[in-house]
Amino acid sequence: MTSESESGLPIEPVYGPSALDGFDPPTELGEPGSYPFTRGVYPTMYTARPWTMRQYAGFATAAESNKRYHQLIDAGTTGLSVAFDLPTQMGHDSDSAMAHGEVGKVGVAIDSIEDMRTLFDGIPLGKVSTSMTINAPASILLLLYQLVAEEQGISGGELTGTVQNDILKEYIARGTYIFPPKPSLRLISDMFSYCQTEIPRWNTISISGYHMAEAGATPVQEIAFTLANAMEYVRTAVASGLDVDSFGPRLSFFFVARTTLLEEVAKFRAARRIWASIMRDEFGAKNPKSQMLRFHTQTAGVQLTAQQPEVNVVRVAIQALAAVLGGTQSLHTNSFDEAIALPSERAARLAVRTQQVIAHESDLTATVDPFAGSYAVESLTSQVEEAARALIGRVEDFGGAVAAIEQGFQKAEIEKTAYHVAQQIESGDRTVVGVNRFRTDGQEPYEPLRVDPSIESAQAARLAELRAARSGDDVRRHLDDLRRAAEKDAGEGVPGEANLLYPLKDALRARATVGEVCNALRDVWGVYVPADAY
Ligand code: 3HC
Repeated sequence: MTSESESGLPIEPVYGPSALDGFDPPTELGEPGSYPFTRGVYPTMYTARPWTMRQYAGFATAAESNKRYHQLIDAGTTGLSVAFDLPTQMGHDSDSAMAHGEVGKVGVAIDSIEDMRTLFDGIPLGKVSTSMTINAPASILLLLYQLVAEEQGISGGELTGTVQNDILKEYIARGTYIFPPKPSLRLISDMFSYCQTEIPRWNTISISGYHMAEAGATPVQEIAFTLANAMEYVRTAVASGLDVDSFGPRLSFFFVARTTLLEEVAKFRAARRIWASIMRDEFGAKNPKSQMLRFHTQTAGVQLTAQQPEVNVVRVAIQALAAVLGGTQSLHTNSFDEAIALPSERAARLAVRTQQVIAHESDLTATVDPFAGSYAVESLTSQVEEAARALIGRVEDFGGAVAAIEQGFQKAEIEKTAYHVAQQIESGDRTVVGVNRFRTDGQEPYEPLRVDPSIESAQAARLAELRAARSGDDVRRHLDDLRRAAEKDAGEGVPGEANLLYPLKDALRARATVGEVCNALRDVWGVYVPADAY
């Protein structure tokens, strides 16, 4: 009996040769590392280098998080990934009224260059690749990172890493937006341009489907809405005067990996094939690096259960396999206790060990794209591709992702799916082991990691010291310069007074805080107000 995939696509109980009727390997598969990159973005993939094991981490103060980063490096992670607390993500200082109760809670509190310096104490920034999950104030946190690297004697050209910097999915699903779309997109284009000159190996954006998936999006919705957002960023950057091949190679992506392994592998392969054709045929990208969809994956947080948390170790292992079989470049494996609280050190270490077992004990790094030619996976890949292209077309019919967002389209589509899944779990049509089937009586005791609430006052005290020690006149002058620059229309995106990252950097070097520079921009641009329901 035919079953239905997460995206509502048919999965046949048995596939035979007819599943590949009309399937033309040279066109639809290509070679690994060649257009359309269905089999992976590099010719050798993991046979030359395993994916980056990059565990998302950060909580409490910069000093606490710095300790965790050293623990993760000692445990064998090969890339850093910074989680910031909500006040930082929303551009509020730890001592602001808006920050109360959230300081250091879901990530690390970063208010100034001094916190950034502490966060990376003892970590050579020229030798590590760092991802920062920061969106509305992404340019500010990147500049703080660059300023600290300069203090370590490291030039921008030596830095590698990524800022998420994907504001459109914030409007759709995640919510950590500040400014309206137009100035937000201008800031993103300015960063593309700034990094070309100042930090050329930096991945300037991580266009994310993860959070839309966590909000309920199906695999098809996840890649369709993500790629439609990506098209909007490319259009904006090209309109600002940048050549698509000048910034295209430094675009990156971020997806979820669900437990439904077969459709997830098909999803990743379809996403690469779609993006390659969009960049080549729609935007005229000539450089193969512009056509490659390089991505990070995080296992599905929303599929973790608080009940019988040890079962999550199995889910994460399957989800990690889906990411690896799908050709991810970088991977975060969730800790089994994250449905309860911030990951404990022991759980975070087991999450890394899960990746290490797959990389070093399995044979999955011995060959590239082992599913190539599979009746089931190639058939699913084509079905996912067809459905995703149709949904991208619907977004484009609104006039692009921003116009669709302003109509509330993507959000409404995702909410419909989320409601359907919730009903299936409620009715038992969808099994969640330990939750609606295979339950145990009572709950085993589990002592989660808790963030000490007193860190909020400690962080506020550090801010008071910083403000007392710096030159207030200097800061005020730099903030006025920033407001004047923000009032000008977007320049040609070329470095210079039209590029906002230069006055921003001057203000941050003078120890203006994250909240102060964001407030200066709020004074000029106002804040985003969500659209009414679609
Ligand atoms: N052959 C040749 N070269 C290879 C290779 C191979 N087989 N494998 C790797 N390489 C090279 C690459 O070309 C690259 O060199 P370059 O930088 O000079 O081009 C280098 O080795 C590193 O390889 P990758 O770029 O593939 O791997 P990275 O890990 O450096 O980058 C990425 C991966 C996806 C491109 C990057 O954008 C990245 O790291 N993203 C991470 C994003 C992230 O961690 N996000 C966390 C979000 S958490 C969140 O939002 C959830 C929360 O809200 C709950």
